[in-house]
Amino acid sequence: MPDGIASGIEEEINVIRRCTESELATILEIINLAAQAYKGVIPDDRWKDPYMPLEELRHEIDDGVVFWGMEHNGQLLGVMGMQDKGDVALIRHAYVRPHFQKRGVGAKLLQHLEGMTQKTILVGTWAAATWAILFYQRHGYVLVSDEEKNRLLKKHWSVPKRQIETSVVLAKHVHDRSLPQKPASGDRSRR
Ligand SMILES: CC(C)(COP(=O)(O)OP(=O)(O)OC[C@H]1O[C@@H](n2cnc3c(N)ncnc32)[C@H](O)[C@@H]1OP(=O)(O)O)[C@@H](O)C(=O)NCCC(=O)NCCS
Repeated sequence: MPDGIASGIEEEINVIRRCTESELATILEIINLAAQAYKGVIPDDRWKDPYMPLEELRHEIDDGVVFWGMEHNGQLLGVMGMQDKGDVALIRHAYVRPHFQKRGVGAKLLQHLEGMTQKTILVGTWAAATWAILFYQRHGYVLVSDEEKNRLLKKHWSVPKRQIETSVVLAKHVHDRSLPQKPASGDRSRR
């Protein structure tokens, strides 16, 4: 069996559970640590520090974003939110602690959230965040056209015009959920 934490995440005790109100600071910590990946990548006028202030996180939760987390040995490794929007569900704020990225945490959270809805799932991310786009594509999500992206972001998200210009939307329809996932390349457990 591979050594280290990676094998633990893959094979041992890990729990996916709904985050609690008392974990706001931890959720915020994970988001702001992982969001460092955007620094220097997304347009400078879209970057802010902290990337997500506490008030914004509270607002998102009040607005219906439900956060789930993967816990390993009592530590939250990653979080992912889901927001019901009537005819569709949105994946919101997917972040994994940098040290634990690329070890399958995001995949497990995404699969868990997908299992909770029969609706088409939409996810919006920065056009420049190529790794995030690849992550979703590997899970069967498909980039929508520019026109559709503009329509969907205006309808389901509350984001400024500039963010619409610099974002993409990916979609996964319910009939695509049972498609086999493209296997990831390489030995993930050793990274
Ligand atoms: C995107 C993110 C949530 C994925 O979670 P994760 O636990 O790292 O993802 P998994 O281990 O399940 O899947 C890894 C896959 O994601 C993609 N990926 C994730 N991080 C990557 C990186 N830094 N560079 C390249 N690809 C990356 C790759 O497709 C990778 O597949 P590979 O390991 O075969 O190369 C996480 O990497 C993260 O928090 N990134 C920074 C913040 C971010 O971009 N959030 C997305 C908001 S929509």
